Amino acid sequence: MRTLVAGNWKMHKRRDEALALLREVGDGAAAAGPTVEVVVAPPYPYLELAVRTLEGSGVQVAAQNCHEAAQGAYTGEVSASMLAGIGVTHCIVGHSERRQYYGENDAAVGLKVRALLAHGLTPIYCCGELKDDRIAERHFEVVGAQMEQALGAFSPEELGRLVVAYEPVWAIGTGLNATAAQAQEMHAFIRRQLGAAAAHVPILYGGSCKPDNAEGLFKGADVNGGLIGGAALEASSFLELVRIAYRVKHSA
Ligand code: 13P
Repeated sequence: MRTLVAGNWKMHKRRDEALALLREVGDGAAAAGPTVEVVVAPPYPYLELAVRTLEGSGVQVAAQNCHEAAQGAYTGEVSASMLAGIGVTHCIVGHSERRQYYGENDAAVGLKVRALLAHGLTPIYCCGELKDDRIAERHFEVVGAQMEQALGAFSPEELGRLVVAYEPVWAIGTGLNATAAQAQEMHAFIRRQLGAAAAHVPILYGGSCKPDNAEGLFKGADVNGGLIGGAALEASSFLELVRIAYRVKHSA
């Protein structure tokens, strides 16, 4: 199984800071020798700069969202075909912040996944339960429903082109990560949901994943890397997570 470490920059960094971080991540990944798949997801205005700066480094570039239509009168939106046209290879969809602040539901996220696949991009589909769901012990039910409603209509071949990220909402930006056991049991559940595609889909953990807790999390048999927020904003911690992922998954 592939291992992937992706950095979601969210709405952070001035242009000069973004360029410096891209250079450090690109140089660090290029110097690392054999490594895991590394992806960075900067804000839209820096995507083309990211593709150019990271050329030859092995690091790939993701957007943080896209619109489901190819083009049209959708002020403020960006299509999958536009992303493909500038060399972006991945796109995060269904992040809990999009669900929470912009009312995205699973039906809408499913349409985005479809558009991305049509343009040869790799969707990074995010799912995860709220704190109240975890307290009420309905986390499997919630994540199962998200998977079914967003991805239920896709064929195994299509699902096999996805990356899934499990991001418990209570762990995002809180410093309170899921335990390794909580992550592993949910990842195993998600893998079962993927049916015939299960063996082809990396499942990433996201939510306060840092160098000091990553080793335990990545040791989970069904944890194939991480989707990293805060710790992706510094090259040193992001590259450390890449090193830990390689060590845990590929060089033991
Ligand atoms: P943090 O790593 O900052 O908790 O963010 C996780 C996340 O939302 C990545 O998409």
